[in-house]
Amino acid sequence: MEVVLGVSGGIAAYKAAHLLRLMTEAGHGVTVVPTANALRFVGAPTWEALSGRPVAVDTFEGVDEVRHVRLGRRADLVVVAPATADLIARTAAGLAPDLLGNVLLTATCPVVLSPAMHTEMWHHPATRANVELLRSRGVHVVEPAVGRLTGADSGPGRLPEPAEIWQAALGAVPGEDPALVPLRGRTVVITAGGTREPLDPVRFLGNRSSGKQGVALAEAALTAGARVRFIAGTMSVPVPTGAETIHVESTQELLEAVLAQAADADALIMAAAVADFRPAEVAATKIKKTEDGGAPVLSLERTPDVLRTAVEIRDAGYPMAPVIVGFAAETGDAQATALQHGQAKLRRKGCDLLVLNDVGGGRVFGQDTTEVTVLSADGAEPAVTAGTKAEAARAVLAALARVLVRRDAPEGPGR
Ligand code: CTP
Repeated sequence: MEVVLGVSGGIAAYKAAHLLRLMTEAGHGVTVVPTANALRFVGAPTWEALSGRPVAVDTFEGVDEVRHVRLGRRADLVVVAPATADLIARTAAGLAPDLLGNVLLTATCPVVLSPAMHTEMWHHPATRANVELLRSRGVHVVEPAVGRLTGADSGPGRLPEPAEIWQAALGAVPGEDPALVPLRGRTVVITAGGTREPLDPVRFLGNRSSGKQGVALAEAALTAGARVRFIAGTMSVPVPTGAETIHVESTQELLEAVLAQAADADALIMAAAVADFRPAEVAATKIKKTEDGGAPVLSLERTPDVLRTAVEIRDAGYPMAPVIVGFAAETGDAQATALQHGQAKLRRKGCDLLVLNDVGGGRVFGQDTTEVTVLSADGAEPAVTAGTKAEAARAVLAALARVLVRRDAPEGPGR
């Protein structure tokens, strides 16, 4: 999203620097528009360094690009934190003495004000009336937190924690699922369905995969604003609209498609049910019945492990999606529980996340509901989700979003 972060002149302006970090780490482009008084608390270089964009206060800077109108029009979200009593009063009156005032008058996107002021100012009838007026116009005014204020006084008026403001702001954006926001603009490769291993020109070895989980993942990723490259094996449901679809049949074709499509992607999700074995020889012509009533004996060989190959390519430093997600269908047995088998497979495959499907106890393929446990290589607790495939898809993508954000963070993993 394109976000404008307005900052007005209160002591809590320093907290907006943290809010800005949350926004940029989630992959949003943020232009900071402080008021002149805000710069008395936190200077322009801080905002410019943290946002990576120039900062202007005055309407008369950058007049040639009509910045005062363009910023508000282009924004998907405007957040003002802290919003002082004076800023709230000016906004309610429709005044635009500076660039932030102009942005607030031209914005057609959700506008979120997070007030911070002394309790008396918050309770003053003028402020009450202004807040009510703004809310009646559809502006989201976040309730200030209760607690210790700048002086010895305490009461409502504190700026809420940046993470709370960010959650409130995301809640104001229609259709925005906060956990999936980091996926916006990312390229995600999703494999789905089953593979078919040819035996002769008319026969194959296949499996019962429906492709439903892959479709649910693609739809959720598209809704979150990701670009999806969908590599479809054999499916019993339609491929998702809005994705770029590549059709494949055999594991070899799947491998080639993954190498081509995932090289410049942000993430690879291997939801396809890939054959582990294939006929060692493919007959060039149809295998015929023989007069003696005998049947051919099939000799099988292992297929390439696509997931493992992708991880090896990435780990060797060649172009490959930095985040790789595998799936595993496991049953508990005498040696270990399904969870333990899943954890061992996560280590063996070397992927970042492994989506574990416990298929013991008569649970079968092709159903609309499922129970998945998302295992993370970074040590995050396993997360269990039971419900529709759409709900499972959301859980997988939320875990993926978290890994993407961690990778992007300037300090790198481990913060
Ligand atoms: N996979 C793959 N290439 C294969 C086989 C599987 O990329 N040739 C991927 C699947 O898409 C899935 C994961 O690997 O993401 C499943 O791992 P796999 O080891 O095949 O699971 P199982 O079939 O359950 O294996 P095992 O019998 O070893 O438990």
